[in-house]
Amino acid sequence: MGEPEIRRRRDDDLKACVEALATVHEADRYPAEWPADPGAWLTPDGLLGAWVAVEGCPDVLGHVALTRTGQDLAADAGLAADQLASVARLFATASARRRGVARALLATASAAAEAEGLRLVLEVEDGGGAAIALYEHTGWRHAGTRTGDWTTADGRAALLHTYVAPAGGLH
Ligand SMILES: CC(C)(COP(=O)(O)OP(=O)(O)OC[C@H]1O[C@@H](n2cnc3c(N)ncnc32)[C@H](O)[C@@H]1OP(=O)(O)O)[C@@H](O)C(=O)NCCC(=O)NCCS
Repeated sequence: MGEPEIRRRRDDDLKACVEALATVHEADRYPAEWPADPGAWLTPDGLLGAWVAVEGCPDVLGHVALTRTGQDLAADAGLAADQLASVARLFATASARRRGVARALLATASAAAEAEGLRLVLEVEDGGGAAIALYEHTGWRHAGTRTGDWTTADGRAALLHTYVAPAGGLH
C-alpha cells in the first residue's frame, strides 16, 4: 500500500466522504448521532477549509476540516479566537487506520493554517481513546477540560478536552 494522497475536498467528494463517515459511525459511533444531513455536518459553520485522504478515485480514506474558533476553546488555549483555527470532522475509515492518514491530514491542515498565521486547536470527548492517543503522541498540548452540555451514548456527561498544536506546526 502506498501513501494516500491528501488534497483539498471538492464538492463532488462529498458523497464519498459521507460513505466513509458512515463506516466510522458504524465502527466508533463518530458522530455519536448520525446526522439528518451528513453532507451539511461535514460542512460546519465557519468552515475555513476541508481536506480528504484519497487512494484511487473515488475512495476516501479520511477527512479533516478547519473552522473558526469559539470563545471557550480560545480561552482554554490562552489565545485570541482570531489567532486560532479549530480542527473538526477528523476521521480515518476503519479499514485505513494506523497508516498515518490522520497524521497526514493534520499536517496538511496545519500547513494551511500556519500560512494564515493561525494555530490549530481542537476539542475531543473523553471517550475518544484513539484520537486522544493521536494528539498525545504527535505533540499536541492538553490545555483544559470542560464538561459538555450533552450525554454520551454510554450515558456519561460529556467531558471535553482541549488540545493546542505545537508551535511551529505539525509535520
Ligand atoms: C483518531 C483517528 C482519526 C486516528 O486515525 P489514524 O489514521 O488511524 O491515525 P494515524 O495512523 O495517523 O496515527 C498516528 C499516531 O497516532 C497514535 N494513534 C492513532 N490511533 C491510535 C490508537 N487506536 N491507539 C493508540 N495510538 C493511536 C499513534 O501514535 C499513531 O502512530 P503509530 O501508528 O506510528 O503508532 C481514527 O481512529 C478515527 O477516525 N477515529 C474515529 C473518529 C474520531 O475519533 N475522530 C476524532 C474526533 S476528535
